[in-house]
Amino acid sequence: MNEVLKTIRNRRSTRNFLPEQIKESELNAILEAGIYAPSATNKQPWHFTVVQNKDLIDRLNYSFKEFGKKSDNEYLRKFANNENFHVFYNSPTVILVSGEIDNRYSPIDCAAAVENMLIAGESLGIGSCWIGFIEYLLNSEEGKDFLYELKIPEGFRQIHAVALGYKKNNSTNGPIRRENTITYIK
Ligand SMILES: Cc1cc2nc3c(=O)[nH]c(=O)nc-3n(C[C@H](O)[C@H](O)[C@H](O)COP(=O)(O)O)c2cc1C
Repeated sequence: MNEVLKTIRNRRSTRNFLPEQIKESELNAILEAGIYAPSATNKQPWHFTVVQNKDLIDRLNYSFKEFGKKSDNEYLRKFANNENFHVFYNSPTVILVSGEIDNRYSPIDCAAAVENMLIAGESLGIGSCWIGFIEYLLNSEEGKDFLYELKIPEGFRQIHAVALGYKKNNSTNGPIRRENTITYIK
């Protein structure tokens, strides 16, 4: 198996991070992988907001949980009411990926960028977790003030986030993959 395939196979969501910050060169390599993702008609409709401020990361977590506790979404409520749950798993770096509102392919293009960043992180020995949850808060009335603080550009909306940091434990095999998801027609 070549190195790319090994990296893809070995990447697993990390939900236990060391507090130590990742190196700037590593962060830059991960961001570069993000911006080299494919995008529909090459519009590159993404914006990356790198948050390495623990106070802000924790306030986002707090507000997310307060929001989630009141939600009628039972799945969200379950996590929000779990005292030990942190929406970014206390990762020292969070990259919020916002996408142009007026581009129907934004969520897909941003997802491609996220996946590139997760794989780039793995190739550098950095743990990552794709975080969809925070979108609930940031696209709500309650999350509006954060958009200013996070400098999300006008005309963009929060789509995905990535929690990044050195892994506390080595990756496990992760969830078993579903079978019979491929059809061959020759
Ligand atoms: C669109 C999307 C949103 C996700 N949001 C979250 C999230 O908010 N929190 C979380 O812990 N994992 C989240 N995940 C990670 C998945 O739970 C994880 O990728 C899946 O269980 C497979 O595990 P693996 O990444 O180890 O292969 C998300 C994944 C995707 C693709």
